[in-house]
Amino acid sequence: MTIAEMPVAKSSETNAHGYHSFSLGEFTFNRDEYFVYIAWPTGHHMMSADAFLRALQRDVAWDFFYGIVNFDGVIGTVNHYGTVDLFAGRYNESYRKAELDYSENHTTPEIRETFKAVLDDWTNAAFDPFASPHETGSAFGVKSGSNTKAVTRARVAAQRMVMVPGDEGLRTDDNGHPVNRMFADVPQDEPIIEVEPGFEQDVAAFNLFAYLSRSQVTWNPSVVSQCKDSLFCPTTEEYILPIIHGNDRVEWFLQLTDEITWEVEDRDSAAVRSRVVMRAGDICAMPADIRHQGYSPKRSMLLVWENNSAAIPELIASGKAPTYPVEF
Ligand SMILES: [Fe+2]
Repeated sequence: MTIAEMPVAKSSETNAHGYHSFSLGEFTFNRDEYFVYIAWPTGHHMMSADAFLRALQRDVAWDFFYGIVNFDGVIGTVNHYGTVDLFAGRYNESYRKAELDYSENHTTPEIRETFKAVLDDWTNAAFDPFASPHETGSAFGVKSGSNTKAVTRARVAAQRMVMVPGDEGLRTDDNGHPVNRMFADVPQDEPIIEVEPGFEQDVAAFNLFAYLSRSQVTWNPSVVSQCKDSLFCPTTEEYILPIIHGNDRVEWFLQLTDEITWEVEDRDSAAVRSRVVMRAGDICAMPADIRHQGYSPKRSMLLVWENNSAAIPELIASGKAPTYPVEF
């Protein structure tokens, strides 16, 4: 069976609002004009439809990312890199104390295909869950068309590197993506490279700021360079990170432009730990035992530096590696 043929538990009929309902294991998912309803054997929960779809879009596009993707204080996923836990109340101290927390493990294709089907069915024509709130129409109302093109956006992928022969089509001045309204002041000039004869196939450079100024999406880190397990993942941010990310490794943040405020909490209990205000040029390391959500008043550029090593989550969980990156 191919992944495309993976069965998704979807109702045969639509509800009074025009939407299908879905299930995964013992979890059920329903929506109406404003809200999403999630139920599991020990409880149930509701979320605003726009917030739910923005979070779901990131979880699908990031393929469950590193560690924990909390949709809010109750619902979320934990990535085990091959399987994924779907949970309710697991990182919520009150739910755990009341023994109402619940978790199920699913294969990655099974949960991915279910989430993709929910995202496509519940996203109306006017709504783009990847866009900033100011650049999209409403998520609300009865079922009204679909926006499959937006929710299945594929990343622009380089074969070698932007501007190297074969990948010149990705250069910023002709890649078909206009400069975002909030980056109108970002210089668009490209670096001048004078290549020693014989190295024309291998030496190139591009203006990363100009490149990012044309990003159509928010809160979606892309890999722009890789050296072994070291990944540089720049991204453009506006309004609120639609999920609360629970780390399973240290992440470094370098604020390239403008400003983001991070609310940082304990990953497991959600107790408040700190507020970090990052302005252009600031760098910080987010520890491996926190969860965080960013607020960006104006579209900004952020470089996320990830260590992609598969060994790290276990080293940290077992105490063999520290939850912080540097001993001062
Ligand atoms: Fe994070």
